[in-house]
Amino acid sequence: MPIDVAADVIANRPLSADYNVLALAAPAIAAASAPGQFVMIKANGGPGVAGQSDPLLRRPFSIFEVLRGADGTPAGISILSKRIGVSTRLLYDARPGQRLACLGPLGRSFTIVEPPTAAWMVAGGVGLAPFATLAESLHARGVRATLFYGARSGAELFYLDFFRALDVELVLTTEDGSAGEHGRVIAPLDRRLAAHDDDAAVMVYACGPEGMLAATARIAMKHGRPCQVSVERIMGCGLGGCYSCVVPMRGEDGAAHHVRSCLAGPVLAGDQIVWD
Ligand SMILES: Cc1cc2nc3c(=O)[nH]c(=O)nc-3n(C[C@H](O)[C@H](O)[C@H](O)COP(=O)(O)OP(=O)(O)OC[C@H]3O[C@@H](n4cnc5c(N)ncnc54)[C@H](O)[C@@H]3O)c2cc1C
Ligand code: FES
Repeated sequence: MPIDVAADVIANRPLSADYNVLALAAPAIAAASAPGQFVMIKANGGPGVAGQSDPLLRRPFSIFEVLRGADGTPAGISILSKRIGVSTRLLYDARPGQRLACLGPLGRSFTIVEPPTAAWMVAGGVGLAPFATLAESLHARGVRATLFYGARSGAELFYLDFFRALDVELVLTTEDGSAGEHGRVIAPLDRRLAAHDDDAAVMVYACGPEGMLAATARIAMKHGRPCQVSVERIMGCGLGGCYSCVVPMRGEDGAAHHVRSCLAGPVLAGDQIVWD
């Protein structure tokens, strides 16, 4: 069951002019969450919390980190937010001590592989968000993990040392060529999958812009590899009530149908989504 809390902002760390990491005191949500799940946050307060009425609706955010106390007990969560509109602007400017309505954990999490299967995570921009907790879970299981991470520039590649500390191999790309390989992240993914031993199992996990997700799913299918994608649809409620988040899927009989990505996802099988 999702939990609705009025969460204190513990800290707000700007990473760039657009990105910030917002830490929220939400221990019950943190304790119940699994990698790939999300929360719905009302950026201007919410029920029981003083605030303006605009924006009226909450917005979805992946749980980026589970924050723990000195004894390891879950104390809160953080979100990695990219400023694109009214809510993310408010979250960029949020101050410690402010309270935000936060509902979660929501949605279906990633299915986490076991060794000897390797995990290849593919992140575009703020699509990095669900991979910090996934990388921790993979590390705890002893799974070999690689992160293919693309951004506009080197200044927008974040938390690299966090992933290195979890023994995650980094394959970096930037659109302006200022760090890593020049271009899009799917290019090294395609090359690496083509060169990979057919008998060595790989699970591809992806999160990022829809075009990148579609390309990743197609590349994984081309190389006969399973792929879990975390889709980002506009979500009005996060609870299955508004149908703003539907994604076309193809069933085993080949027939197309729509699922609500807040309930059936956000993590979905890449080869079952109807991409065009
Ligand atoms: C499951 C899930 C997890 C997400 N996790 C994160 C995360 O960890 N960090 C993060 O920064 N963002 C994440 N997002 C996207 C985030 O929810 C949107 O950026 C946010 O709703 C924008 O709110 P806003 O009020 O700032 O923008 P608005 O003012 O509502 O919108 C600004 C513009 O962006 C467009 N837009 C809004 N939401 C989306 C969307 N989901 N996809 C494409 N275009 C959109 C609008 O149509 C509009 O043109 C996630 C989305 C989903 C569905
Ligand atoms: S967000 Fe309302 S049904 Fe999915």
